[in-house]
Amino acid sequence: MRILSGIQPSGSLHLGNYFGMMSKMIAYQEQSELFCFIANYHAQTSVSDGKSLARGTLEAAANFLALGMNPDKCIFWVQSDVPEVQELAWILSNFTPMGLLERCHSYKDKTSKGIAANHGLFAYPVLMTADILMFQSNKVPVGKDQKQHVEVARDIAHKFNNEYGPIFTVPEPEIDEDVATVPGLDGQKMSKSYGNTIDLFAEEKTLRKQIMRIITAPIPVEAPKDPDDCNVYKIFRLFLDKDQDEALRQRYQAGNLGFGDVKQELFETVRDYFAPQAERRKALLDDPSSLRSILSKGAEKARYAASKTLLKVRKKTGLIY
Ligand code: ADP
Ligand code: TRP
Repeated sequence: MRILSGIQPSGSLHLGNYFGMMSKMIAYQEQSELFCFIANYHAQTSVSDGKSLARGTLEAAANFLALGMNPDKCIFWVQSDVPEVQELAWILSNFTPMGLLERCHSYKDKTSKGIAANHGLFAYPVLMTADILMFQSNKVPVGKDQKQHVEVARDIAHKFNNEYGPIFTVPEPEIDEDVATVPGLDGQKMSKSYGNTIDLFAEEKTLRKQIMRIITAPIPVEAPKDPDDCNVYKIFRLFLDKDQDEALRQRYQAGNLGFGDVKQELFETVRDYFAPQAERRKALLDDPSSLRSILSKGAEKARYAASKTLLKVRKKTGLIY
């Protein structure tokens, strides 16, 4: 079973990224053949400053490694270190109907928010398809928002395979319903673009500020509260085991629970939960040449896997003459 996913190196890492995708990926390396990469080409659709993309790429790599990604147990690389994926994206774009891309919610959402449409944004799902098909991935763990893009990859794989035979594994999205959408401070999906995130590696002060900003209903302290109606609880439960979860639910239902107090507890929980990883992350970022060396070894393995697929594709499509 081959599992693949990528994360863009844009902005800081939030709880939605961690619980929606990264924690699952990190767990997979123990049981499956795992491919995981930093999608820096994709990030170019929103980051044009070269310095911040380069810095963000190293930070994203350090995040994954600090959180437990083990480069000896998986293939971990930076997307642009395997430029073959761009060739595959071009080939696949000839199997991509315009309508398929025009229907993509992510593209429609961005353009409806006034982001100027360019070809990169429009063709984004084709590059993502190339990422997935290049490595013959069976499963792609993503948050709900990326599900449609994996469906695009399935459609394109079918089209290509219908023409040339079974070259590509047809991938399946994998979405953990339990954390399908981690809510943000305002109850909407937690997302960098909504400014409603709680960041894993924020400074203590910033972290506390973010958590104190979680929107709660104006209910008197003494009144019983419905945990399922509370943004603080919805985030807190991600850190709790079954018994702890039940205990918190009972405190909500019993009344006499102040939102300020639960927020303070949540702040301490998040801070302590990620403290050891924050230290590892700092050590990794303090030694960028070792970090680059880990990434370049990963890229070598990824390139080898990519070259096998690309050779078949080149032969079938007539690029080898
Ligand atoms: P953002 O929405 O903040 O820009 P990204 O699009 O970079 O986040 O998401 C990176 C990964 O994290 C993707 O697999 C995405 O589906 C997942 N993800 C992002 N936000 C959430 C969320 N609130 N809940 C669950 N998964 C999420
Ligand atoms: N589009 C994904 C995101 O923004 C990142 C990504 C790029 C990806 N290529 C991928 C995810 C391939 C899964 C598989 O989150």
